Parts: sequence; structure tokens; C-alpha cells
Amino acid sequence: MENQEKIKSLIGQMTLAEKASLCSGKDFWHLKGIERLGIPSIMVADGPHGLRKQAVQADHVGLHESVPATCFPTASALAATWNRDLVYQVGQALGEECRQEKVGVILGPGANIKRSPLCGRNFEYFSEDPYLTGEIAKSHIDGVQSQGVGTSMKHYAVNNQEYRRMTIDAAVDERALREIYLTGYEIAVKGAQPWTVMCAYNKINGVYACENGTLMTDILKDEWGHEGLVVTDWGAMNERVAALQAGVELEMPGTRNGNDAKIVAAVEAGQLDEAVLDRAVERILTLIFKADATLSQDFVCDMEAHHALARCVAAEGAVLLKNDGDILPLQKTTRCALIGRFAKVPRYQGAGSSLMNPTRLDNLHDELFKLIGVDSLLYAPGYMEKGDQADDTLIQEALAVAQQAEVVIICAGLTDLYETEGVDRTHMKLPPGHDALIQRVAAAHPKVVVVLSNGSPVEMPWAGDVPCILEGYLGGQAGAGGIADILFGEVNPSGKLAETFPLKLEDTPAYRTFPGGPATVEYRESLYVGYRYYDTVGQPVLFPFGHGLSYTRFAYRDLALSQPKDAPLTEGEALTEGEALTVTFKVKNVGKVAGQEVVQLYVRDVASMAFRPAKELKAFAKVDLQPGEETEVTLDLDRRAFAWYDPQRKEWRVEAGTFEILVGASSQDIRLNAAIEMPGAQPAAERVEPDVYHAFPKGAAVSQKDFEALLGCAVPLNQEARKGQYTFNTPIGDMHESFIGRQFAGMIKKQLHKMIEGKEDTPMALLMEATAQEMPLRGMLMGDTPLNREMLEALLLMMNGRFFRGLFALVHAIVRR
Ligand code: BGC
Repeated sequence: MENQEKIKSLIGQMTLAEKASLCSGKDFWHLKGIERLGIPSIMVADGPHGLRKQAVQADHVGLHESVPATCFPTASALAATWNRDLVYQVGQALGEECRQEKVGVILGPGANIKRSPLCGRNFEYFSEDPYLTGEIAKSHIDGVQSQGVGTSMKHYAVNNQEYRRMTIDAAVDERALREIYLTGYEIAVKGAQPWTVMCAYNKINGVYACENGTLMTDILKDEWGHEGLVVTDWGAMNERVAALQAGVELEMPGTRNGNDAKIVAAVEAGQLDEAVLDRAVERILTLIFKADATLSQDFVCDMEAHHALARCVAAEGAVLLKNDGDILPLQKTTRCALIGRFAKVPRYQGAGSSLMNPTRLDNLHDELFKLIGVDSLLYAPGYMEKGDQADDTLIQEALAVAQQAEVVIICAGLTDLYETEGVDRTHMKLPPGHDALIQRVAAAHPKVVVVLSNGSPVEMPWAGDVPCILEGYLGGQAGAGGIADILFGEVNPSGKLAETFPLKLEDTPAYRTFPGGPATVEYRESLYVGYRYYDTVGQPVLFPFGHGLSYTRFAYRDLALSQPKDAPLTEGEALTEGEALTVTFKVKNVGKVAGQEVVQLYVRDVASMAFRPAKELKAFAKVDLQPGEETEVTLDLDRRAFAWYDPQRKEWRVEAGTFEILVGASSQDIRLNAAIEMPGAQPAAERVEPDVYHAFPKGAAVSQKDFEALLGCAVPLNQEARKGQYTFNTPIGDMHESFIGRQFAGMIKKQLHKMIEGKEDTPMALLMEATAQEMPLRGMLMGDTPLNREMLEALLLMMNGRFFRGLFALVHAIVRR
């Protein structure tokens, strides 16, 4: 309170220009301070799975080095632990490293939903399920913020692809928005209050996230009660004044785009209420002083302990997908062959803004050597560095090595060119060299263990030919140690998939519409994302959501439910806010070794006026049991666990009628179930949603007409801008009808190519290539640039065919500068 008074008094002492100045960054990574008022400038830096503090040269695409920090497993692996406490510990460690490095906010976690396995940043996101996403995000945020350091939950919202991410318009119906794409943020905002939320680049139903008052103020601040501030993704600002009014307080990075001056002008012209600016400044100062209170004290981390934690998390985030014949765990005396370059040069994190510099990097070859103590572990590289073609010589060598071994461990996965910010995958396959190696070795040897390193699902045409598959995800700097621990039984695997592994890309619900473009992406599958689709339409999958094996077995029994109150409170409604149902059941470890089990609870609405997926995850717990030990698990289901969002009434509704409670070891391994009656009269049928959503088709073919009926409006026009209509938001690569546009795009490309000299064959190059093509013109004003707004406006005139007017304006702008 005292602090708020101090902040209010500071605002009272500021000039209008000073207030406006605080609303944008000083540079790439710092907020501005005001010396005369004793307001410090704090630093923010990227995450999410490790601190990326750039001490010298700054960029947001992973070009330049950062100070060494612990590289924890990436979000896919964190979510696969389903372990809230462990994720909290990771957050805590990240927070400690921020304190050591004097960083006030670490940018993450990412809470976007994995709509398609192809999104280039899926490794940075948790799950296809919003509840799991929200729970894991909440623990991550709580952990970091327990250290007095802030987080930035990103990218709010509906940023589920990289293709044209800075301009794409996501057309999504209100139920899918609420029930799938916002729920994760909602859980984490209400439960953990992230100090900042990062607004996404894209548009949502026609409005840029940064100007989307419904998302930024009505929902985030008013409905969910977010107390922190909203910061733009780097370069996501469109119209500054509109964004401030919509509830976006801070623009990053610092720019020369004249936006601070625009705020001043808008207040002076009476177009912007100064109270709006004051409220924004209050939130910004609150953040600055909170962070500064922590950072003014020195702190030293135990980096060894963080490495050990990273190893433990990597082991817990690895998912044992298949273990026929109980080949795993291996005995230390087993003669093993280790095949695949990844065994020596691990794939452990993704590319882009999250790419960080680990304090050290373990590899499986050395970790196995340490663990089993044999001095000559058989090894063959198996594939070329890029793995893009099968290499017969390397495969022959691998076969020769395999022949001498009892068990063959193949390290395969996606090479780093497949997983980077800015670029989506175009298929779901492994590099051909990896598939071919596995296929040939599996044909020659009965005991093959495939260890995968990738941040998102892959097709496994050989899955039926190998007895064991261990999904290691991108396990961070100590990932190899975690895998070694599992292979040799030092750790009993307990990870479960936080996403479905489909059989093939064509089976996925967004297959027909992902990634859309050039202007719009249509979310025609609505709620049917991930297992909500596969289970509803009966589409077979390779490995279902929630799946993961253990070296022990668990038995479930005695499901019991508390009953809802008899009297319905409003007609057709059951359960009030704050009321919960309690579900209990027993789980026993009936195997021979200690182990952890992730128990999952799904709810099925048996009959509803609204369309509902076959089942939805609503609770989970992770239990740790000794052999023979049994425990009772208690899970609470609140009103929301049964509700759907009614866009007509603008509220969450629970209908009277039957619901099934399904408890199991995966979404398709349901061990216990019970029905529960929600009291009250069934509401009169007032079905308004198109029939196709009530009997959703395999293949997810939804007509434009049906989608429009669901959306409640016409699908936006989806075409590239034409000459004469180019704006600040037109992607640079789209201005090809204009000679000046083409020249300009060529120039930008050249500039960006220069930045990646010597790194041509890297993910950075792919990212730069995409940026040169897809960045909107206004992106040219981001960061330290020789251009200013007037120059760009002049150029735009020229690109739109008004050459001489533009030229004149350009000369004028240059002179005025
Ligand atoms: C990314 C963010 C990141 C920011 C700063 C953006 O390009 O989308 O996730 O935090 O850059 O590096």
C-alpha cells in the first residue's frame, strides 16, 4: 500500500512526456528509468527454459550469445512431467539465476496451445490441453516469482503458428477461444498473477492482439483480475494510442518510431484520457519497483544444484512410449551399441529467441560410459549431420556395430533446422536419414531402443518394428544424463504425453486449415483440438494424450464421488461458483519397483445442447508409490470442470443431466468410471450451433458456411494486399507488385543475410529468411534503425504508386531528421 502511495506521488511529479516515455523500452532489454525521480531502469531477458541474458549485442532471434545459464528441458518436456512441484522448482531455479544476473523479468512461460504438431515453436509450449497448460504455467510462474523476479506469460493469445505470425488473423469462434485458447492463461493469471503478460503479434478475429481491448482489458484485467502489466511481443505494437486504450501498457523493445510522442499528442489533443496513461504508468512503476527491490540485493546461485535439477527434470519429462518384452531397463552388464550422432552431439533445445548458452552440455555417450563403466561402448554415427538423406556407408557401419551388441540404442529425432521460432514444419516426418537408419537396424536386430530428441510429435513408420521407444523431448543441458538414468533403471520413467502423437499428419484436425494465409487462418475445427478430436471422431493415433509407461504397474479401484446439491439454483443449472465435487479413488503400485503414476481425470458431458468433445481433462495428480503401496487420491472438480462457454449469454454454463467421470492412466486407458447426475430440469433445446459440430466428421471437413455460422460472422477476406492498398501492416515480401517494394524487400533481405554470414545453414538463417519475407513494414521501426516513421510513410506512398509525392516526402523527412 505504502508503495502504491509512493508510486502515485511519483506520477504526480512527472511531466506528460516523462509518463509517456515510461511506456516503451530504453533499448532491446531495458525499461526506461527517470533519474531525477529515482526510478531505476530494469532489465528483462528471454527464457523460457533458461535465462538468455545478452550482455553485449542484442537481438530477439537467437543470433548473438548470452551469458552462460542452466538450460532446463524445454516446455514440451516440462509438461510431460505432469509434476507441478518439479516445474515450480525449475521456476525457482530460473528466478535465482535472474537474481544472480540482475534480470527483473524472464520472458516466459509460453502458454499457447499446440493446435497443430507443425508449429515451429511447439517445443516452447506445454500442451494441446488448456487445463494442463494452465496448471504447468501456474507452477512455472509461481516458482520464478517466489524469487521476487517477474515472468511474462506469452504469447497472449491465439498465436499457434509461426507462418506470418506478425500479421496473420486467427479466425476462431468464441467457444474455442474461451474453452481452448484462453483457459490456460486464465488458470495461470488467476492462480499465479504473472507480473507481465506478453501480447501476441497476430490478430484475433480481425483485431491485432495489442489493440484487442476485449482480450487485454475486459477479459484479462476485468474478468480475471490481472494486476500486472501487458507488454508487447518484441515489435508487436501497431497503433500506440489504440493499444494503450486497449490495455497494453508497455511497448518493447525501445524504438525510434515516435510512439511516445504520439501518446503525448493524443493526451494534448484530448483524444486520450490522461487517466488511462496514469493507470498504465502505475502498473509499469509497480513492476519496476518490485523487481528493483529484489535486484538491489546480490545473489549467488548454486549452478551445480541447478544442473542436477535439470537432469532430474529431463528424466521425469521423458516418456517411455513402448517397452515390449520389458527390454528396458537395461542391465549394466548388457553389451550395448549406441548409434546416432545425437549420442555425441545432443539435440537439447530449440532455436529462436529462447536459444541460450548452457553452462555445460552432457551427451549420452559420456553419460552411459560414466553410468555403466565400460570403457568401450560400441558406437556408430549412423547418419550425416543434417540427416536429410540416408547414408549407406554410415548405415552399414551401424549394422556392423549392432551385430556385436545385445541391445542397440538408436538416438534419432529432429535436427535443429526442423524446430525454430519463425518457421513451421511442413511435415511431421523425421529426417529421412534417421528413418532409414532405424528401419534398417530394426530389420537386422530384435532389440532396438529408439531414443528420440524432438520438441513436437513425429511420425514413426517403424514404430511396429522396434520393441522400445523413449521420447526424450528436448531435454536441456543435462538431458542425456536423464535418459541414461532411465535406460538403466536409475530412474523409473513417469512422464506422460502432454500431446497426442498422431499416426500421420493427415490425421490431425487442423490439417486442412493450418497454417492458412496469406491474411487469415481459420480455426474450423473449433474445440476439436488434440485428443478432443481424436477421441470424439474415433481417429486412431500412434500414442494417445496422457500415455506413458513405467517399469512398474499400477492398479486403480474404489472410485467414489460426492453428490451435487439437490436443488438447482437456477433453471437448468447445477453447481454454483465455489462449490466443488470431490472424487476419490485408490491407486496401488502392484509391480516390483517404486514408481510415480500420473492419474488423470476426464469429464464427459453425456448429453448437451452444445457440442462437446468426447472427454476433457479436468484434474490430475502425480503419486509416488513404493512396491505394494496403495494411496487414496482426492481430486476436486469445480463448476468449471463441467461447464461450456455460452457465447449468447456470455457465461459459463453447467447443464443439468448426466456427466461421466473417467479416471485413468491416459486419455485412452480409462480404468474407473462413474456417472453423476447434475440436478435440475434439462434446458429446453435451443441448439444454435451447426449440426456438423454435433457429429464432427473424421477428417474435420467443415464448410465455410458452417464455420461462418459458428463464428457468427463472415470469414474475413483472405488475400494478399494489392498495390495501392499497401499499409504499414503489409508484409515486406508481399509488396511485389511495386518496383520500389521489390527493391526495398531485396535490400532488407540483403541486410538480414549479412547478419547471418557464416551461419547460412542454421535455423537462424531460416528464421531470418522468414522474417525478411513476412515482417510487416512497421517492423522496420523496431530497435535501433536509421529509418523513422516519416521516411517509412514516404516510402509507402512510393510503393503504392505515388512515386513523386513519396519522393518529395522522403527528401523532406531526411532533411528534417
Ligand atoms: C518472441 C518472444 C520473445 C521476444 C524477445 C519475440 O520474437 O516471439 O517470445 O520473448 O521476441 O526476444
